[in-house]
Amino acid sequence: MDVFKAIQWRRSVRRFSTQKIERARILQILEAGRLAPSSSNRQAWHFVVVDDPSIIKQIPRTVPVGTRRIVTFIKDAPLVIIGCYSKAFTHVIAQLAGHKNHLIDVSIAMTHMTLAATELGIGTCWVGWFGESRLQRLLALPRKYKIVALLVLGYPAERSSKASIGGIPPRPRKALGEIVSCNKFGQRF
Ligand SMILES: Cc1cc2nc3c(=O)[nH]c(=O)nc-3n(C[C@H](O)[C@H](O)[C@H](O)COP(=O)(O)O)c2cc1C
Repeated sequence: MDVFKAIQWRRSVRRFSTQKIERARILQILEAGRLAPSSSNRQAWHFVVVDDPSIIKQIPRTVPVGTRRIVTFIKDAPLVIIGCYSKAFTHVIAQLAGHKNHLIDVSIAMTHMTLAATELGIGTCWVGWFGESRLQRLLALPRKYKIVALLVLGYPAERSSKASIGGIPPRPRKALGEIVSCNKFGQRF
C-alpha cells in the first residue's frame, strides 16, 4: 500500500474484533513512530503500550462521568498506545520561548503509527479526551511525563472495503479552496 492509499483508507475505528494484535505488528507500528522526525531530534516522547484488558477497561473511567460516552469504546479495544513527552528532553531554548514542539513531535510519531497500522489492516482512533492525573496514576507514569493523546488500536469489527478500513464511510472534509491560500491569506491557489 502506498502512503496516499493508507491516508485515504484510514478511518477512526471504534468497534474492534476480539482478535489480538500480534506482537510483531505492534513492534512495526512502534517502529514507525520511532522513526518520526522531532524538533532538534530530541525525541522527547515516550509511549506506553497498554495490552492488559484490566487496565484498558479502566481508561474510560479516568474522564468525568458525564463525558464518558465519548471514550467508552476504548474498553473493548485490544491495545492502547499512550503518547507522552518529558520536558526534561526538550530543548531549553524552545522551552524558554514557550514552543510546544514536544506536542508536535509526539503527534507526528503517532500519525506515523496510524498509517503503519492502516497498512497492516489495523484500525486506529485518536483520543484526546482523557483525565490526565487519573490516567497517570493508572499507568504509574512518573510526574515529569505528560500525556499528549491516546491511540486506540484493534482489528475492525466490520469487514474492510476497497474504500476504507472497517468499511467506515468518510467524515466530511473542507474543500481545499476553504483551507488553502496562495502567497497572501485569502488568495486562491
Ligand atoms: C487529536 C484528536 C483527538 C480525538 N479525540 C477523540 C476522542 O476523544 N474520542 C473519539 O471518539 N474520537 C476522537 N478523535 C477522532 C476524531 O473524531 C476523528 O478523527 C474525526 O471525526 C475525523 O474522522 P476520521 O478519523 O474517521 O477521518 C480525535 C481525533 C484527533 C486527531
